[in-house]
Amino acid sequence: MADIDWQKELLPYEQAVDELVVKFNGIKRDYERLERQCPIHQVIGRVKRVSSIIEKANRRSIPIEDAIDRLEDIAGIRIICRFVSDIEQVAEIIRRRSNFDMKIVEEEDYITNTKPSGYRSYHITIKYPIVFAQSTKEVICELQIRTMSMNFWATIEHSLRYKYEGNIPDDIKSRLKKSAEAAFSLDREMDLIRNEMFSAIRTIQSKEGIVEKIIGNIHRLYDVKGFDKTSEYNNEFINLYREGRINKLVEFNNELESLVELYKEE
Ligand code: GTP
Ligand code: MG
Repeated sequence: MADIDWQKELLPYEQAVDELVVKFNGIKRDYERLERQCPIHQVIGRVKRVSSIIEKANRRSIPIEDAIDRLEDIAGIRIICRFVSDIEQVAEIIRRRSNFDMKIVEEEDYITNTKPSGYRSYHITIKYPIVFAQSTKEVICELQIRTMSMNFWATIEHSLRYKYEGNIPDDIKSRLKKSAEAAFSLDREMDLIRNEMFSAIRTIQSKEGIVEKIIGNIHRLYDVKGFDKTSEYNNEFINLYREGRINKLVEFNNELESLVELYKEE
């Protein structure tokens, strides 16, 4: 077999995977900072193991010495989304930087064009520049964008494929296919209620915000000498909190604010 220094040859791919994971996590952090719903839930990267490279090259009759240049998934990034519609948003983020650092070579939509196995994912193959001390190199990377449930399905199917050495028995194949459809129908359902869910999250966040303000104002009233109704206000707050109506909490806080304002001036 050809004498290949795998460690040296795979170095740019290791670098690409590390950098891309950092970049996608950076995007995630930026969304969090802006308090916007991030389409990226989780980012995973890996460099293909040498044994898998050799196995895949043999399967495709590619000479081993050409394997690294010809296989497109030596560097692989998986971007896991919570909702189906997040996938398109992630694809758009990548398209927007196609002239910058993630030059798109190919897009494959296995969500619209589901594979016969039941596999769904959105694949984008990119060329990614790696800058070394004295040279630069563009490496091919495969980005797989999928929902959590598509990912769950794919990992299960992948281990069965491994177990049966590629020849999954027909009955298991058909059950896998059915479970892929069931998973996707759940995905679509979740997508429909996502807006509903986000408005619930916003409500919870604004409730937390108002409760924080109320507690702050009650503390201020405790500090006011000669004001002896603070405990009553505190009890009223506990009752309103149990009722859980945001409007009432807001009104109550307005009342507290005018009291705080009044005593501040004295
Ligand atoms: P392969 O990488 O050998 O599949 O060839 P390709 O690059 O022409 O294939 P494709 O773009 O269809 O798929 C690339 C990658 O997607 C694979 O390496 C897998 O990670 C994943 N994939 C594709 N089809 C399936 C499938 O049926 N089941 C699972 N679990 N993963 C799949
Ligand atoms: Mg491919």
